[in-house]
Amino acid sequence: MATNRTFTMIKPDAVEKNYIGGILDKINAAGFRIVAMKYTKLSKEEAGEFYAVHRERPFYGELVEYMSNGPIVAAILEKENAVADFRTLIGATNPAEAAEGTIRKMYAESISANAVHGSDSDENAEIEGNFYFSSLERF
Ligand code: CMP
Repeated sequence: MATNRTFTMIKPDAVEKNYIGGILDKINAAGFRIVAMKYTKLSKEEAGEFYAVHRERPFYGELVEYMSNGPIVAAILEKENAVADFRTLIGATNPAEAAEGTIRKMYAESISANAVHGSDSDENAEIEGNFYFSSLERF
């Protein structure tokens, strides 16, 4: 059964361009409640650990470099059917393929600098949320 939580990051490209407010507006307007939120920066080691599932992929080095390049906003979001609905809201990984009105269509510049992350499963939402937040940091 689907859980009602997902995990997101507003990535360095979107933070750098002052898109945090616009992206949070879209998230709230779509009915997600913010359970936890943090403005922070990943070290290279942390970015490597967060994306360890992609370690064998050709883009892994670029991804780790990029994600540790500047501050990000990490958040746990709550809504019925959160994982699937959030992935619909953000659009395809490659913004060139993202549907009109999605966050990546509006704010992303490329497949690596693609504005936001969204968990791809309930299991990963749990793992990714735990990477950033203790139980005391969730409300
Ligand atoms: P994200 O949803 O954060 O999950 C993994 C990330 O890897 C993805 O968004 C992209 O930013 C990045 N990614 C996936 N495929 C590629 C690719 N072909 N080239 C560069 N980066 C990629």
